[in-house]
Amino acid sequence: MKLAIIGGAGVRTPLLVNGLCRSDVPIREIALYDTDLARLDVVGRLAARVASPTVGVTTHSALDPCVADAAFVFISIRVGGIDSRAHDERVSLAHDILGQETVGPAGFAMALRSIPAVVAYARRIAELAPGAWIVNFTNPVGMVTDALHRAGCSRAIGICDTPTELFEDVAHALGRPTADCTFDYLGLNHLGWLREVYVDGRPALAPLWSQPERLAALHRAPLFAPSFLADLRLLPTEYLVYYYRPADVRDNMQRAGRSRGAVVSALSAELFADLGRVDIDPVTRYETYLAARSAGYMQIESGASAPLTPSPWAALTGYDKIALAVVRAIHFNTGALIPLDVPNRGAIRDLDDDDVVEVPCVVNANGAWPLATGSAPAHVRDLLRRVRAYERATVEAAMTGDRASAIA
Ligand code: G6P
Ligand code: MN
Repeated sequence: MKLAIIGGAGVRTPLLVNGLCRSDVPIREIALYDTDLARLDVVGRLAARVASPTVGVTTHSALDPCVADAAFVFISIRVGGIDSRAHDERVSLAHDILGQETVGPAGFAMALRSIPAVVAYARRIAELAPGAWIVNFTNPVGMVTDALHRAGCSRAIGICDTPTELFEDVAHALGRPTADCTFDYLGLNHLGWLREVYVDGRPALAPLWSQPERLAALHRAPLFAPSFLADLRLLPTEYLVYYYRPADVRDNMQRAGRSRGAVVSALSAELFADLGRVDIDPVTRYETYLAARSAGYMQIESGASAPLTPSPWAALTGYDKIALAVVRAIHFNTGALIPLDVPNRGAIRDLDDDDVVEVPCVVNANGAWPLATGSAPAHVRDLLRRVRAYERATVEAAMTGDRASAIA
């Protein structure tokens, strides 16, 4: 089987290649395409080193040979590079609004940049590899996946590691293996809540509400007070901090003096400078980079004083684990339950059928099928609908260039 990665020079490519190669999926070739050829050369060589010997890693400066005949095409691009993220976050903060990759004004700008590019790639993929599944990692994942479906690309599936990371943390708090748990989760990408966890067929979250120490340790940074979570009676993903505590987060960002995008930009620049040196082992250096990046995750936002425990191949591995889970479920027709970003089709009663939502899906050879989740809890329904209305207008603006939609 051939897999293609558009945005193959991205820093997560070796991670993805490593994960895919350590699986039972019969992969023959992983083809990488990027517009940054210097970086593609460096990342391609690193990816080839972590790949298994039977998998050929190829690099391409042209799109067509990269995607031709691929069974899966991953799209993971950042139009304008990491510096565009840092720029948008800085501008937001200069206006006293939190500066965040996918939320608020920076997220809006990112959607306007990403959507036309991803849709153009998808149109070409439809011609060259009509049977390919398009696995979209490009942020903002919900809006980009929505645009792909509106453009007629029905084989597009959006992926985010945030829900499964939360699931693992909650299973850990409950003292149960993740595989024993069924997660009742719903929302939009980067706007999701875990409503219940079932173990042995019974709801298991209730005891947590009266265990403040466990609630405090749930998220990887101190984002929500235990009493707040106990009152909410839902477990939000970390992204809800931008909606529940926007002023605190903004203040923390302004106090830090630089946004997360600026930090990631500096980490990446150091990584690529070192990867150009002959006296440094590239794989070890890459692992150090991953550890540093995951240790800093949500640190500025939460105003935390101590960095997270570094864990190479851990916190960022959500990415490759969930990608592999999707490829396996489709290829082996397993029917695995995976939280993904797909058109709603009635899964969340409060939203339209064509709204892209993030809910558990049954994944098999025919794609990803959202489970019915009913209505969102009354106290989050309004937020869900308002953010979705914003997303619809943003997708419309990005696809048509319509100024009125952008202003709306
Ligand atoms: C999570 C989200 C991704 C996002 C990333 C940012 O993994 O699900 O969508 O891009 O965090 O992490 P960073 O290290 O770039 O701040
Ligand atoms: Mn995400």
